[in-house]
Amino acid sequence: MPKKILLDIDPGVVDALAFCVAMFDSAVDVVAVTSVGGNVPAPVAARNLQALIEFIDPPRFPRIGMGTAADIDLPIDFRNLYGESGLGGVLLPVAELRMQHPAEKVICDTIRSDPENVMIVCLGPLTNIARAFIRDPALPNFVRHIYISGGAVSARGNITPCAEFNIYADPIAAKTVLDAPCTKTIVPLDVTYHLVLTLDDVDKLAGTDNPAGQLYRGMLLPVFRAYRQHYGIEGIYVHDLITYMTATRPEYIETEEIPCDIETSGTITRGVTVFDRRDKPEWKNNIEVVTTLNDAELIIPNIINLLNSTAEKISKNNH
Ligand code: RIB
Ligand code: CA
Repeated sequence: MPKKILLDIDPGVVDALAFCVAMFDSAVDVVAVTSVGGNVPAPVAARNLQALIEFIDPPRFPRIGMGTAADIDLPIDFRNLYGESGLGGVLLPVAELRMQHPAEKVICDTIRSDPENVMIVCLGPLTNIARAFIRDPALPNFVRHIYISGGAVSARGNITPCAEFNIYADPIAAKTVLDAPCTKTIVPLDVTYHLVLTLDDVDKLAGTDNPAGQLYRGMLLPVFRAYRQHYGIEGIYVHDLITYMTATRPEYIETEEIPCDIETSGTITRGVTVFDRRDKPEWKNNIEVVTTLNDAELIIPNIINLLNSTAEKISKNNH
């Protein structure tokens, strides 16, 4: 039975690729997708989500919800990596803005309509999920599981020296989600830093004779250049794709329960995920942390296969 998932994304190139995989992945049934500000401001994320869904034109449309800016809207994003549009060199057309349902309402309605069956996969800041939990305080009891792309146990940060981007962008929302009574798994930078997408991997993707192949390359190639310029790395991190794979294929992961809290107000430690790893921890366990990736060398090839299978299906739809 495919797993029912609600995907919360801030597209962003890698979020967009995770969305492309999910929409045609036979392992899941994507019942809803919501956009959130993060890699790009919230209105751009909403536009990108709508453009992507029009491009993919899936056989069955999920519910769509659009997020608005976080209450503590920080002037940060990752447009230095993902370009002004957030989608690398690509600006996808949008036919017409649909009725925009608020993301938090879509989250509440989706979970309430199928209690304990829908898993939430969060690939951006936790603004929308926190808002849904504030709007409907009993909601966490009906969520099957939440997977979160974010945080760092001992790894270096990726937006400040010690903070991970998604938690840093809205630490108060992250703390609201962390404190909610539901099963949560966090996929921290400690594991996602280990896998890098290379240009050789891009060569294995569908070619430019395929619309999705064009999209993948148009989005990815400028990000390779940005990584080279900003970080001096020949490859790109694909944190959100790894989170998606681990959420939908738990055989890829080992987890450990570790008590966690979030620094919401520090000046140089804002957004840091603090784990109680003392010999005798005094905090209570509140989250599962992915500590190991099993068969890690298979994950990127599997992602490439899934992207190519999406490309094939999109191409068939177009003929
Ligand atoms: O830290 C990882 C996050 O930052 C991901 O969600 C990705 O979108 C990046 O911008
Ligand atoms: Ca993201």
